[in-house]
Amino acid sequence: MDKLVIEGGQKVCGSLKISGAKNGCLAMMPASILAPGTYHFKNTPNLTDVWTMSRLLGSIGIFCELNDDELFVDSRNINKFEAPYEHVKKMRASFYVLGPLLARWGQAKVSLPGGCAWGPRPVDLHLKGLEKLGAKIELEAGYVLAKADKLQGNRFHFDSPSVGATGNLLMAATLAKGTTQISNAAMEPEITALARMLVKMGAKIDGIGTSIIEIEGVDSLQAVEESIIPDRIEAGTYLIAAAITQGKIEITNVNPYHIATVIDKLEEAGCEIDVSNDRVTLEMNDFPKPVDITTSVYPGMPTDLQAQWISFMLQAKGTSKITETIYKDRFKHIPELARLGADVELADNVAIVNGGKRLTGAVVMSSDLRASASLVLAALVCEGKTEILRIYHLDRGYEKIDKKFEALGVSVKRVKTELI
Ligand code: EPZ
Repeated sequence: MDKLVIEGGQKVCGSLKISGAKNGCLAMMPASILAPGTYHFKNTPNLTDVWTMSRLLGSIGIFCELNDDELFVDSRNINKFEAPYEHVKKMRASFYVLGPLLARWGQAKVSLPGGCAWGPRPVDLHLKGLEKLGAKIELEAGYVLAKADKLQGNRFHFDSPSVGATGNLLMAATLAKGTTQISNAAMEPEITALARMLVKMGAKIDGIGTSIIEIEGVDSLQAVEESIIPDRIEAGTYLIAAAITQGKIEITNVNPYHIATVIDKLEEAGCEIDVSNDRVTLEMNDFPKPVDITTSVYPGMPTDLQAQWISFMLQAKGTSKITETIYKDRFKHIPELARLGADVELADNVAIVNGGKRLTGAVVMSSDLRASASLVLAALVCEGKTEILRIYHLDRGYEKIDKKFEALGVSVKRVKTELI
């Protein structure tokens, strides 16, 4: 188990190429189940979550190999329709294989993903959607058993948008008989990228990128080559790192439209930002103004940047309000930030940040991916040294975070620790 050791008082200064999107990769890799063949994904991030998905696909006979940022997936010898608990328990996104397995085999047995650090993560919308396509769903001993000789196109309306459930339904509908219309679908760029990949594979999909997606089922699909879209959450995290340290950063290989709301909020906080088609530069020469955010589905403020924004607002001279609308209790970072001197009050799903307090380094514990990122950001502006334990959480979604910060002039030391 490694830890990160960070000396406070450093400034981010430099240029950084953003990696491929974790959540794009995790949505697109299961699509290889739909059509036997060899797939080539470019701009693939080297992350533990990508390795977890590779091992899950390997357990059903799909061979994955990652060379630098090129991922090769060979699904010609797929031989199972079961995703075992030992894989699914490690990563909720493993559940995204349910729809493709059902469409490919007419049956699927996938472990329920269980909860995560910040509470229950239900899958009812995934199951309701597949039932609407004619699947018979049973729950047995922690597994979802789904059966459907041939999925039938139908209408499905999401009470509230779900990224994963939209992906599962989209993939299943491509091989269903007839037409499926999904309304109130997730519009996250990762889902748009998945839909575009499916069309390249031969699927017939209209309304890509909107909340109403229409899929006309086809008999078969083909393997493709695809490039993973840039990681908008990594991009937002490093922009906030430059802003919180009153530094200067240029991020490249980014789609500014995917982080338009984040850019807006950073400018409101006082950052000077310049945008071109695939790069964003940010300069910050003062403490931020307090800026309230409310997380929402795309294209709103991403919930995956909520923790990072709280760290940023610790530096503001004043009070800011952070409202989380996507998850209940996604605030595990607050008690750890308090160990650094943060003054944040929590009431239901609203965090009130009383900024401007003195922050001093301490030993803190990662609890989940984005909470860990918020601890790194706060550590950069603490007086003295901070040690962040259990950084395997960070390695799930931030590629080479220590090396990337080194390239930005910030010393972030990765230290091996004894298993405790
Ligand atoms: C995806 O998770 C992302 N993960 C999450 O990113 C992200 O926070 C989330 O979308 C929201 O943007 C991946 O793409 C791998 P949801 P997902 O289904 O698909 C409720 C990160 O840090 N819900 O859109 O699981 C759910 O509880 C991760 O990279 C149901 O009630 O999210 C939540 O409150 C964390 N029933 C809301 O919907 C369901 O069947 C949104 O969840 C499904 C979801």
